[in-house]
Amino acid sequence: MIARGIMLGPDQPVILHLLDIALAAEALHGVKMELLDAAFPLLKEVHATTDVTEACKDVNVAIMLGGFPRKEGMERKDMMSKNVPIYKEQASALEEHAASDCKVLVVANPANTNALILKEFAPSIPEKNITCLTRLDHNRALSQIAERLKVYVADVKNVIIWGNHSSTQYPDINHATVTTPNGERPVKELDTDDHWLKNEFINTVQQRGVAIIKARKASSALSAASAACDHMRDWVLGTPKGTWVSMGVYSDGSYGIPKDIIYSFPVKCEKGKWSIVKGLKIDEFSRAKMDATAKDLIDEKEVAHSCLN
Ligand code: LMR
Repeated sequence: MIARGIMLGPDQPVILHLLDIALAAEALHGVKMELLDAAFPLLKEVHATTDVTEACKDVNVAIMLGGFPRKEGMERKDMMSKNVPIYKEQASALEEHAASDCKVLVVANPANTNALILKEFAPSIPEKNITCLTRLDHNRALSQIAERLKVYVADVKNVIIWGNHSSTQYPDINHATVTTPNGERPVKELDTDDHWLKNEFINTVQQRGVAIIKARKASSALSAASAACDHMRDWVLGTPKGTWVSMGVYSDGSYGIPKDIIYSFPVKCEKGKWSIVKGLKIDEFSRAKMDATAKDLIDEKEVAHSCLN
């Protein structure tokens, strides 16, 4: 997807640095061969390596996929002891070798907390440049609404994922709209079944990652890769007018969310910078859900720090 211009645009040449562990070196070489064989016009160079320093050298965009994947029946917190040390090491390599304006997207779970650890160990990378993926959840929410209302997914916008990319995340449709032949209409007006919106919808989005793992016996791949491209493309090239997306970013205290956690907010992007959409009305139901997922992140942060000691 990156080599085809889906992430950074159809006119942006790319140099790919691919990092994997030594055990996977041969398979990684195979991926490099395939990338070369595809003769992508935008792909200028491919560096496949098992050396984190070489991988991070001068990169402008870092997609952090590396981590111990969650297996069926495994809680996300079980992964923490395996993944936190990986993020500490990779943060140090980025700190020393990446371009000073490198934009970082953490995908591997627990994504928010891995991103927070990365931020702590890469202090010279601006905090606004360290983000995590909740666009996958955002896209899942759009798709659930489209299916329910029998409309095209492209006509649904402005859902919000608040908080953690975990089962405590809060998918919020209070501000979402659908483009109809009669103009833009709030989702809540088109679906008046409050019970569905407050229960099945939220549960389905929260549990979708688990459902994929159960069905595939492996974590989401295509939809996660596509969401990573969406996240980075909108960040670099901008969100469409009147549309926001969800990104896990370093909390500035907006909406009463504690600072010093990486929390998913609604954001708009322009000229390579994101900003949190301010002033949305938050009802009591949303407030409780937003606070619960913030608490989950604060707990995760404590566990992560205990894994470092
Ligand atoms: C997903 O949401 O599909 C993944 O983050 C699930 C997981 O835990 O690997």
